[in-house]
Amino acid sequence: MQVTPAAVRILAELLEEFTGQELTQTRQWRVGTALSSVMREHDCADLNALAARIAGNYRSPLARQVVEALLNNETYFFRDLAVFQDLQDTVLPALAQARAEKRRLSIWCAGCSTGQEALSLAMMLAENTAIWNDWQVEILATDVSESAIRSARKGCYNQFQIQRGLDIARMLRWFTETEDGWVASEKLRNRITYVTHNILETPPTTRRFDLVLCRNVLLYFDTATRKKAYARLDSALAEDGYLLLGGGEAVRGHTGLFMPEKGRPSFQRPAAASARSGADAMAAVR
Ligand SMILES: C[S@@+](CC[C@H](N)C(=O)[O-])C[C@H]1O[C@@H](n2cnc3c(N)ncnc32)[C@H](O)[C@@H]1O
Repeated sequence: MQVTPAAVRILAELLEEFTGQELTQTRQWRVGTALSSVMREHDCADLNALAARIAGNYRSPLARQVVEALLNNETYFFRDLAVFQDLQDTVLPALAQARAEKRRLSIWCAGCSTGQEALSLAMMLAENTAIWNDWQVEILATDVSESAIRSARKGCYNQFQIQRGLDIARMLRWFTETEDGWVASEKLRNRITYVTHNILETPPTTRRFDLVLCRNVLLYFDTATRKKAYARLDSALAEDGYLLLGGGEAVRGHTGLFMPEKGRPSFQRPAAASARSGADAMAAVR
């Protein structure tokens, strides 16, 4: 059966309201697959029937379930290895130097999905005792998806997930095999606080972060929403901090609040206040 424009509009509106994401035409083809188990569970013959059930009731548990199913939680350990290498070789040592007096480092993984990104960072920091021994290192990892955060908190990965991006040595050093899957060590998990949070809302804490990772999240937003997200990220970042985006994501043309690092397009620095455009400054206070 053909999905009616009204049904597409309802699903798009729902996703936009809860996450800010656009249900672009290129994403619409996978909506049926993404929602098939929700339709089965709730005896909905097709997407039109499902949309009719949630119309006008976006706060219902079913609507929430639909949002969760529409989110793309794709992630894996050490995604974009070259970027993690760059973090280890240049950015983190630079931050260690800048924060040498307080010996405190705050990191925010915004859009952390099921936790692999935050755990990759935690592993890197824990392995580099020459720098980070005796430091207070905090990683806050957030995602709008409640189910992703629930899963991240468990820190338990199946055979497919554990092998994606993680070498055997790290897998054996930092994870224990159990009946349920491979569980991350307490040492890593204790470093990370997982919280459900929408990046379009006020940052989760008033603390300024030294490093913010927001990778493969903003690409689902339209231009205006992306601008708002950049303003939120900017308000959460220390003036000399770093914002790390996903491969292929760029600030140019989307915001004047950040400037890409020369030769390292994934790393962004806050632009000097004078370089900020009036429109972005407005977005920052909204
Ligand atoms: C493709 S995953 C990327 C995960 C990880 N950052 C990485 O690069 O491997 C995108 C994540 O962003 C989350 N997300 C989408 N919209 C969000 C929003 N408005 N606020 C917070 N997280 C959001 C999704 O739930 C999903 O887990």
